[in-house]
Amino acid sequence: MRAVIKGIGSYLPEHVMTNAEMSKIVETSDAWIQERTGIQERRIAAEGQFTSDLGYEAAKAALSDAGMTADDIDLIIVATSTPDLTFPATATIIQEKLGMKHGAAFDIQAVCSGFIYGTHVANALLRSGGAKRAILIGAETFSRILDWTDRGTCVLFGDGAGAVLIEAIDDAQENVEAGILHTFVRSDGRHRDMLYVDGGPSRTQTVGHLRMLGNQVFKHAVTDIAQVMRDCAERAGVKISDIDWFVPHQANQRILNAVAKRLKLRPGQVISTVAHHANTSAASVPLAMDRAVKDGRIKRGDLVMLEAFGGGFTWGAALLRY
Ligand code: UT7
Repeated sequence: MRAVIKGIGSYLPEHVMTNAEMSKIVETSDAWIQERTGIQERRIAAEGQFTSDLGYEAAKAALSDAGMTADDIDLIIVATSTPDLTFPATATIIQEKLGMKHGAAFDIQAVCSGFIYGTHVANALLRSGGAKRAILIGAETFSRILDWTDRGTCVLFGDGAGAVLIEAIDDAQENVEAGILHTFVRSDGRHRDMLYVDGGPSRTQTVGHLRMLGNQVFKHAVTDIAQVMRDCAERAGVKISDIDWFVPHQANQRILNAVAKRLKLRPGQVISTVAHHANTSAASVPLAMDRAVKDGRIKRGDLVMLEAFGGGFTWGAALLRY
């Protein structure tokens, strides 16, 4: 069995918050944010608009792209660290919004690496017969967990959602080349204090705010992302130089540039949406991939590497033929 991406979609909230608007909230400047991160603007969810609303819109777009309806799918996985509620899972809320009374739905929490972890899990379930068609969604409202007095973090994040529809295909019966070729995920809990949220149901009974030692996270991110992509490609028996497109987690343009330099990637091979989306955590990879598919850069048959790095630390890569 192979797990093949049949559709992709995304959704961004309407409100565009520019760096100029940000500089009215904290002591910062458009020049500093652009120079240190490449971010020009980010989207912020409206009052009363929740992670499930963003994820639902992205799921509908992926279904429509695949020419399918909710009746055709039997699994929903949502990668998020900003669920609507502590429980039930945001995936079950989206299941209800889609009018789905069958199948199963659950959330995955691996912070910014959530979509890669989700790809890892969806691939395993689809290939082993655990589901036939899954919608994998990365959806976040990080604006709700930011400390809006901390200029070192609040300027970096945004809200959004992206989704893919993945189908299990028997490659003995259908001659398909497309599909997820390999996924490789890692974590190292020793570094959890470098990027975390200082609240939670069990410890504080509050939601808490995001805390980060930015420059230390930066160094780990560059090293670990470069290594996990090398490992993923090697395990798949593919050379980095044979890969057409790289869709990275969109945390900071300087991280994208440093990783590209280490892996000697060709100019223009790395999909970047960080200028307009900022860091949307688990949503950033599918949002960036959707952009590159819709504008015609990523085409059917292309070899694509996805990667992400986030709190935990967690990190990982997924290699696929689109
Ligand atoms: O998605 C999960 C993964 N997350 C990441 O990968 C984020 C990784 N980290 C980063 O992207 C960068 O470390 C940051 C963008 C967060 C910070 O960039 P930096 O080059 O590491 O700056 P820094 O934290 O070392 O701060 C440099 C200076 C400090 O001032 P002093 O102490 O040198 O006087 C900060 O106070 O920049 C100051 N600063 C700001 N100035 C204006 C920090 N934030 C801001 C700001 N506006 N928003």
